[in-house]
Formats: sequence, C-alpha cells, structure tokens
Amino acid sequence: MNRIESMLVNSPPRRWLQRYEARELINLGGRVPGGLVAELGCGPGYGTRLILDRFGAAHVDAVDLDPAMIARARKRLARHTGRVHLAQGSATDLRTGFAPFGSGQDASYDAVFDFAIIHHIPNWRDALAEVARVLKPGGRFYFDEVTATALARPTYQRLFDHPTDNRFTAGEFLAELPRHGLTASESWRTHIGGDYLLGVATRT
Ligand SMILES: C[S@@+](CC[C@H](N)C(=O)[O-])C[C@H]1O[C@@H](n2cnc3c(N)ncnc32)[C@H](O)[C@@H]1O
Repeated sequence: MNRIESMLVNSPPRRWLQRYEARELINLGGRVPGGLVAELGCGPGYGTRLILDRFGAAHVDAVDLDPAMIARARKRLARHTGRVHLAQGSATDLRTGFAPFGSGQDASYDAVFDFAIIHHIPNWRDALAEVARVLKPGGRFYFDEVTATALARPTYQRLFDHPTDNRFTAGEFLAELPRHGLTASESWRTHIGGDYLLGVATRT
C-alpha cells in the first residue's frame, strides 16, 4: 500500500465509511454474537473494533502484512486485550500468521472478515481458499471488496498502488466463491457501477 492509501486508511473518512459497511454487512448476514472470528488485513484495527462491538464477536484473531498497521491496531485495541490476537502475517497463510497464539486450524472460525484487503493480494484466489479452510461448516465469510472496475479508473491508478494483473470484477469474485465451498447469499450488493462489492457467503 502506498503512502496516500495508508493515510486514507488511517483517516476519519475511512472510519465513517467502515461504520457504513458494517451496517450493510449486518443487514446482509446478521451479527456473530459470541463468535470466534478471523480478520484478514485488519489495518489500523478499526474494523476489528466494529467486529467486537457491533457484530458482537467474543474474540478476533487478525493479521496484517504491514507491521506498522499491526502496531496501530495494537494501540487502538489496547482496552480489548484478551479478546483480540494481532499478528503480522499473510491472509494467504493463516496457519503461520496465527501460529504465535496456536490458532488458524481447519474449520475453527465462526466467521471471517475481509474489509477491503483481498484486492491487494496478487494470488487472491489463495486467500479465498484460506478463508474456506479456516471456516467451520455453516460459518460466514463477510466481504467488502474493491473490484477491477474501480482499480481501472484513472483516479485509482494515479493515487494508489495495487497489483495490476488478474484483478476481479464483482461477477468474477462471486463466481470464484463456490469453487472453494463458499455459497454467497442472493443479497450481495455493488456500489458505484460495480466498483465495490459487499456480501456474505456461507461455508458449505
Ligand atoms: C485497504 S487496506 C484495508 C485496511 C482495513 N481492513 C480497512 O478496511 O480499513 C488493506 C490492508 O491489507 C493489508 N494487506 C495487504 N496484503 C495483505 C496480505 N497478503 N495479508 C494480510 N494483509 C494484507 C495492508 O497492509 C493493509 O493494511
């Protein structure tokens, strides 16, 4: 992630937007009261707090590739110690990422959250395989993604730095889910002409 995106991710507008996304995801997939949750790419930890406070999770294990983001998240979540594990690591290998606290096993989470991170991963299908691996049968995958449609816009190309090959449209992301045993509910949503995709899928 470049400096501009990093600044935006750490800004009040992002927090406002993330509260909106959380409301939409709750409308689409409900809350996860008392659940054990894994979060991919937690960034500065605001989404982690929403998962605890608004979705009602009991505990969140979260990874981010960037140690500076993990340091920010640690600070933000200081008063939730005991309900959160944070680790530097990749969403494509949660077994290694969560090894310090002995988590990340097969079929061990009630829900997995992806707040705008999978579009950053070159081998994004591997991240979906990992989501499916760690979810319990019936567990839910909450996704909020930026599509190839958005990434192709001149503003995105000028301001941000993303992998360029092999990005996904909303349709391609939804079509990939069942290949990993994930069934999206009918009520997924796109915004701004397909730039953003929000939805919930269940592990079959
Ligand atoms: C656009 S930010 C989103 C941060 C936060 N989830 C939010 O919604 O504000 C993308 C985050 O994904 C992280 N990231 C990128 N590739 C990753 C990977 N392979 N595994 C884990 N985190 C990754 C980045 O370091 C960054 O914090």
